[in-house]
Amino acid sequence: MIETQRLIIRTFLPEDADDLYEYLSEPQVVFYEPYEVFTREECEKEALRRSTDSAFWAVCLKKDKKLIGNIYFSKQEFDTWELGYVFNIAYQGNGYAGESAIAVIDNAVKQLNARRIVAMCNPQNEKSWKLLERLRMRREGYLKQNIYFKTDINNNPIWLDTYEYGILACEWTAEKE
Ligand SMILES: CC(C)(COP(=O)(O)OP(=O)(O)OC[C@H]1O[C@@H](n2cnc3c(N)ncnc32)[C@H](O)[C@@H]1OP(=O)(O)O)[C@@H](O)C(=O)NCCC(=O)NCCS
Repeated sequence: MIETQRLIIRTFLPEDADDLYEYLSEPQVVFYEPYEVFTREECEKEALRRSTDSAFWAVCLKKDKKLIGNIYFSKQEFDTWELGYVFNIAYQGNGYAGESAIAVIDNAVKQLNARRIVAMCNPQNEKSWKLLERLRMRREGYLKQNIYFKTDINNNPIWLDTYEYGILACEWTAEKE
């Protein structure tokens, strides 16, 4: 568990299904994700699945323990960790995603020997890349039509561009001092 000024960042619990459903059932929230909206039943399975998946961090408000979103933070090769995040729309615009991302990255740099942190997002997802830039991550790549999540009515891929962001642990630490 990680504690920040306003947040508790913890492992998911099976009981998180309702709060998870509140945001994963929202089309606007999952618009840039590689999946569709979740049903209540799917959220029950997902909360259970995430409860044993260390890549998913549940972000909760300290004041009332409400689960308001999640950080994804997953180890790749070469001591590189990938950051992702999805937050309930009702709680966006308060700095909670940033506050929790900073805490998870700090923890990884100090405790997990993370060497490099990366993140990817659709260039059209301005809220996402603005958050990455607030985290002082560097735009390192602009990949053209490198991925697709959906197909059109003729079953052709709908190709998407990707921004790649990165920061080294030494830069993270140096810039904070
Ligand atoms: C991407 C996402 C997490 C960004 O959330 P966010 O709330 O905008 O990000 P932050 O936590 O950094 O909050 C920053 C905003 O809070 C405001 N804010 C208010 N109080 C604040 C505080 N105390 N501290 C910092 N920022 C604060 C900032 O001004 C900023 O608002 P602005 O964008 O209007 O300028 C969110 O839009 C989301 O979950 N989207 C859907 C899922 C998604 O697309 N994920 C990414 C896939 S790549």
